[in-house]
Amino acid sequence: MIQEFSKIKNVSGTINIPGDKSISHRAVMFAALAEGKSTIKNCLLSEDVLSTINCFRQLGIVIEIDGDTVTVFGKGLNGLQKPESELNAGNSGTTARLLSGILAMQQFESVIIGDASLSKRPMERIIAPLKIFGCNVIASGKNTLPLHFIPSKDLKPITYKLPVASAQVKSSVLLAGLYLEGITKVIEPVQTRNHTENLLRLRVDENAIGKTISVSKKNYPKPQDYFVPSDISTASFFIVLALLIPNSHLILKNILLNDTRNAVLLLLQKMGASIEIENVKMSLGEKYGDIVVRSSKLHNIDFNKEIIPNIIDEIPILSIAGYFAAGEFIIRNAEELRKKESDRISSICRNFELLGANVKEFHDGFSITRQIEKDNLTFNSFGDHRIAMAFSILSSLLKSGGEIKNFECVNISNPQFMEQLGSITGKL
Ligand code: S3P
Repeated sequence: MIQEFSKIKNVSGTINIPGDKSISHRAVMFAALAEGKSTIKNCLLSEDVLSTINCFRQLGIVIEIDGDTVTVFGKGLNGLQKPESELNAGNSGTTARLLSGILAMQQFESVIIGDASLSKRPMERIIAPLKIFGCNVIASGKNTLPLHFIPSKDLKPITYKLPVASAQVKSSVLLAGLYLEGITKVIEPVQTRNHTENLLRLRVDENAIGKTISVSKKNYPKPQDYFVPSDISTASFFIVLALLIPNSHLILKNILLNDTRNAVLLLLQKMGASIEIENVKMSLGEKYGDIVVRSSKLHNIDFNKEIIPNIIDEIPILSIAGYFAAGEFIIRNAEELRKKESDRISSICRNFELLGANVKEFHDGFSITRQIEKDNLTFNSFGDHRIAMAFSILSSLLKSGGEIKNFECVNISNPQFMEQLGSITGKL
């Protein structure tokens, strides 16, 4: 489906963003593993999280959905059942990689499949540590999905230093470690999102080489009530829009402010953004609060290497902010972008070339400078939700607007994107 966007003149009001995607996935998974009833309030119910819910239903867990509250009747340590068919992770890397850590430890066989995009994404990064545990994991020739898990008797805890900065790999290993008496340790040289550690209350030690996270059967989750703060990655599209439209005043409620996720706000502030944080609260180790945004004049800045994992999902929308900011927008050290729902370095560069920008593509990033814009543009989403939303914000800032191909992929993380945009721009 092609979605049109015309120039937006005004952004004002208060917006409620759905629950954080990373935390929603984990809350469903941990509630399914715990023995007894858990409720998850403000749970995101996008296609990705529904993939996780459906996989656990196939594994025998009863999960009820009422509005944005999800009730999970978990079955405990040995409670998952052999699924009757393949488990479909759809487009969701988090579902496939975290679920792999769980399935690799079960006493039944299972298979994970995914859509065309997920079936091209690298799985070697989780297969390697799972094999060190002694798990039997068989992948297709290219170390991609489908992944086939066969029960193994000879399992032992591991100490694993992450070769890539990936919270999905870290979490996959930690989830596998939950099934063993002995202590599994994950060493993380560069900090990535830490929701698994927070929600499972894992021990984290820090020294010169980075963080070491320890896990064992003792950390196996118990049923509890979860509140999922609203998704900062989803919020960032509306934040950038409000910054770039003159005379805007936007309030975003209950947004996740976890230190491993909030760099997008800190960097935008450094770029000159008027962003204030109010009403800060905590829920299950996760900080959240209200964000107040006012239109601002932005300038480009340097991004250091260590910050990249903290903004990895926000680079598409940061590139839109950077395009309109003074100076050149440059991202380097971000080769992981090529392994996301699309090759995001290529997707961003191709769309900015259509616009007429001065674009340079590097193996690990890109640079963009503003030029005279072309009119009546149709951008490609490349089937990638964050590319679709980033270029819809760009289209809303152009004199002649713009349109986005295959826009339906926004349902991966935010099925209400159009309603939310309409509610703050008077176009509902
Ligand atoms: C996620 C981790 C990140 C992120 C993804 C969600 C998670 O992926 O890009 O959207 O929930 O753990 P990587 O682990 O591949 O960096």
